[in-house]
Amino acid sequence: MTTILRLDASTRVSGSLSRALADTFQENLAKSQQDLKVIRRDVGKNPPFLIDEDWITAAFEPENTRSDTQKEVLKLSDTLIEELQAADLILISSPLYNYGMPAGLKAWVDQVIRIGKTFTFDLARGDRPLEPIFSGKTLVLAGASGEFGFGPGELNDGRNHLVAHLQTLTGYLGAREMHHIAVEYQEFKDARHARSLENAHREARELAKRLAGEIDAAAA
Ligand SMILES: Cc1cc2nc3c(=O)[nH]c(=O)nc-3n(C[C@H](O)[C@H](O)[C@H](O)COP(=O)(O)O)c2cc1C
Repeated sequence: MTTILRLDASTRVSGSLSRALADTFQENLAKSQQDLKVIRRDVGKNPPFLIDEDWITAAFEPENTRSDTQKEVLKLSDTLIEELQAADLILISSPLYNYGMPAGLKAWVDQVIRIGKTFTFDLARGDRPLEPIFSGKTLVLAGASGEFGFGPGELNDGRNHLVAHLQTLTGYLGAREMHHIAVEYQEFKDARHARSLENAHREARELAKRLAGEIDAAAA
């Protein structure tokens, strides 16, 4: 059985280009993976609460000395981490908001990247004391943006902090690399947007087919 954790970060549901792109990927993966379990988290519609001082104190308190109140504070985080742990493939649909990730997705990240749960910290490791706990997962980002040209040497090179941020977090989510497909030019609504839409959905179908092949090969 393959388990997908599907996260949707757009605050809009109807007409969301990133959700539709993730749907195409998921539907095509489902075609070749009969035994597909999907865990869904809509962090666009229902964002997790923002972590605060109580949350951080509770997270850093050793498990055996945590108070009942602290355990309660971490309950949602525990559930979200269980969902992440169960996933073979993490599928994130997300728009670019103000050149970064939507607040709901950032709230999810802060809830799941947690000491002793998703990473360990040891100063004996020198200048890189953090080490991820999870591994062997696949990460896919289905993105959407109003503008375009965020690739190397392009017009908006260096401005897509959603992609850069998720790439930095990839290891902590238990994946080695991030596959990225995206619809661009949404704000221009011209032929370039139509082409981008068509290309992105084609890439989503191709990526689903390729990753399904890799899943089958790993299971054989
Ligand atoms: C609050 C907000 C901020 C946005 N900021 C950016 C931005 O910084 N750069 C960009 O290219 N597009 C930006 N956009 C456009 C969205 O990325 C675009 O509309 C995308 O299609 C939204 O995703 P969705 O279709 O899945 O809802 C922004 C849109 C909104 C609503």
